[in-house]
Amino acid sequence: MRVRQHPSLKAFNTFGVEAAAGSMLILEQEEDLLSLPPFDPDRDLVLGGGSNILLVGDVPGTVWHNRLTGKAIVERADGHAWVEAGAGENWHDLVRWSLEQGLSGLENLSLIPGQAGAAPMQNIGAYGVDLASVLESVTAWDLVRNCWAAFDLQSCALAYRDSRFKSAEPGRYLITSIRLRLDTQFEAKLDYSGLREELTRAGIEKPTALEVSDAVVRLRRDKLPDPEILGNAGSFFKNPILSRNDASKLTGHYPELPAWPQPGGQIKISAAWMIEHCGLKGHRVGDAGVSDRHALVLVNHGSASGGDLFRLATTVQASVHSKFGVLLDPEPRIINFAS
Ligand code: FAD
Ligand code: EPU
Repeated sequence: MRVRQHPSLKAFNTFGVEAAAGSMLILEQEEDLLSLPPFDPDRDLVLGGGSNILLVGDVPGTVWHNRLTGKAIVERADGHAWVEAGAGENWHDLVRWSLEQGLSGLENLSLIPGQAGAAPMQNIGAYGVDLASVLESVTAWDLVRNCWAAFDLQSCALAYRDSRFKSAEPGRYLITSIRLRLDTQFEAKLDYSGLREELTRAGIEKPTALEVSDAVVRLRRDKLPDPEILGNAGSFFKNPILSRNDASKLTGHYPELPAWPQPGGQIKISAAWMIEHCGLKGHRVGDAGVSDRHALVLVNHGSASGGDLFRLATTVQASVHSKFGVLLDPEPRIINFAS
């Protein structure tokens, strides 16, 4: 374990906003957890890659930064292989490594920034697949009781951009490793709009898992701003999920609004489309902006503060609410210990 006093968090969040912490503990092995001071959720923060947070203020206490690494195939049986990965592994590197091992299941989740340990937090999802389809279990350190905890898939309560760790018991657990059930026989999932077309453009009819991963990477690079170049946290709002009745009233008024039926009869609608149709795509207030490439992404054009981005998010929310009557729910964790 390493300790840094008063670090800047600018390089530790993909928005690239300036914020400070009292101190930072860099966790490098599980044994570190046994000798740590108590975690105070009102002052301390567990941090992975910082790609799904907005720092509106400083962290008065300690940032617990996860660097618990290691990945291995631990079992093989009946067309499956089980992979265990330390929470501090980079997610995309884990995806590509699994493909190199001849395992599939993660290819549609390529190029999502951040760490493996954060993946269950909001059940990461993209291109028609989410973590729930491959996650078998999670091991975590209980920060309240100071002991180990294990969760099978069901007890993680994964849902669209949600989990037990994000909603029911936020800040209680530090995830230390995840266990995934991957496939040794590849079955392509190409139904997400644009994916099959991207493969066809590349002249590929029957893709390998690696080719699907490459296609997802190309699509994502084309659609989303690269946080290395323009600070952002991916989608800033979740796509709202409405009752069939509410959704059909809206699509009655706005037949072009993209809407996707969900299991259980609800309908998910496109937040990006509504933001764009409020005239906000490319909108900018100082250095805080709505991306001109994707309306669901807020961007830091240089020296926006967390507060600037938060105020812009509030404006976007108010515009969408006033035009469509729908309240957008932020996806990243807004970190404001002062409020
Ligand atoms: P952080 O931002 O560090 O943390 C996020 C939250 O998880 C915080 O509350 C933090 O306290 C908590 N946390 C982190 N690690 C742990 C741990 N080990 N134990 C307990 N709590 C922890 N997400 C998607 O689902 N799909 C996408 O397609 C997608 N695309 C993106 C594209 C871009 C360009 C960007 C910048 C982000 C995108 N995201 C996407 C969001 C983000 O990458 C994911 O949510 C990712 O899983 C966050 O990982 P992280 O390590 O950066 O988490
Ligand atoms: N659209 C617009 N304007 C835009 C962008 C998109 O109107 O500027 C409309 C288009 O009609 C498009 C539709 O929105 O067809 C959907 O767009 P896209 O395929 O880009 O998906 P999304 O709903 O905006 C979601 C996830 C992304 C994930 C992609 C791909 C959420 C909140 N976001 O975005 O996840 O990568 O699907 O599966 O569910 C993230 O969570 O950070 C993230 C990037």
